[in-house]
Amino acid sequence: MSETGKDGLLMNKIMAGFLTAGIVLWGANRIASVVIHTEAPEKTAITIIAMQTAAAPVAAAGLASIIPLIGGADVAKGEAFVQQQCSSCHTLNQGGAAGVGPNLYNVVGGPMFAGAGFAYSAAVKAKAKGNWNYDNMNAWLADPAGFAPGTEMSYPGIKNTQTRADVVAYLRAQAASPLALPTPAEVKAASAAPAATTASTGGGAPAPAAPPSIDTMFKTADLAKGQSIVNEQCSSCHSIGKGGAILVGPNLYGIVGSKMFVTPGFTYSGAVAAKANGVWNADNLSDWLENPQGFAPGTAMSYGGLKNTQTRADVIAYLNKNSDKPTKLPGT
Ligand code: HEC
Ligand code: HEC
Repeated sequence: MSETGKDGLLMNKIMAGFLTAGIVLWGANRIASVVIHTEAPEKTAITIIAMQTAAAPVAAAGLASIIPLIGGADVAKGEAFVQQQCSSCHTLNQGGAAGVGPNLYNVVGGPMFAGAGFAYSAAVKAKAKGNWNYDNMNAWLADPAGFAPGTEMSYPGIKNTQTRADVVAYLRAQAASPLALPTPAEVKAASAAPAATTASTGGGAPAPAAPPSIDTMFKTADLAKGQSIVNEQCSSCHSIGKGGAILVGPNLYGIVGSKMFVTPGFTYSGAVAAKANGVWNADNLSDWLENPQGFAPGTAMSYGGLKNTQTRADVIAYLNKNSDKPTKLPGT
């Protein structure tokens, strides 16, 4: 395919970019992000591994619990998210038809992977143990392929904890008798041990606190820091200013609030085609920038990702300012 030449060129730029910026490539970075969580600096180590090898799914060690958030979650926001990201594959109404995925009415609290009229993959049947609850649903939605390697749910997962809570609160409400909310004691236990599962990383280090949602960070975002990160880590591939040239990647002027992956004159990879015409907002942009390959496996954006949540907020706030009509970021 003609991709080869482009990839070769890309590769050169990428290697130069990475060697100077010292960015960890995706596979190692993904593991690092799980192990050291979001508090890790962006430039932990230089580890160059083969590009775009599909890293083995990583267990959701240290995954933040949604139990403390579920009671106060935003059901309307959850509904909007599900409409946007899940409804192409799932119906939610009672008796709704199975599509690419099973109908999700009454899923929270119901038996796992047992919806009527849907042929589940062997991958998930092996994981079907009892009923869906707030913990296993949290883990599944954060990383379907990590939860059930080989699952046919081709969805990268919801990385933002608050968004997962909003989505599960909405799913929960789609039932004749919704599952009971966590008890105060359960909330307390989950808040006290937000990352109890980090034990599986074997360090025995104290569990890091659950990372605060990025939505709380725009208010105090540092635009100058965002700008310097973009100059340092993005500008080899992206111009930012109005009318800027297409480089390895598309121009990013006005990107926040605009349609995904449709800049005229840029040829996007097939990997992002399925998402074209969605709308970039603070949350999905955060997910993309945290882990481009997780968001759109196979994307041509060969960038390890910005693992520090505050830094992503700084970058998104800066990108948002580079626009004729900046959007209102959460909490601002
Ligand atoms: C590309 C299609 C696709 C998208 C997008 C998708 N799903 Fe799925 N989903 C599936 C498939 C297929 C399965 C069955 C998995 C299997 O058999 O391996 C599934 C299974 C599930 C299950 C388990 C259902 C059960 O019966 O136990 C839940 C819950 C779920 N999806 C929720 C979601 C949510 C929430 C979203 C959006 C954030 C979403 N899915 C997005 C295809 C999709
Ligand atoms: C090695 C080159 C490279 C680097 C570094 C890079 N990008 Fe990208 N970026 C791309 C490519 C290529 C695409 C198109 C993705 C595709 O087609 O799969 C893209 C797409 C994007 C998009 C989606 C644009 C749209 O039209 O919807 C955004 C947003 C973005 N990049 C932001 C960033 C930010 C912010 C950084 C720095 C933190 C960054 N990128 C670093 C190459 C890069």
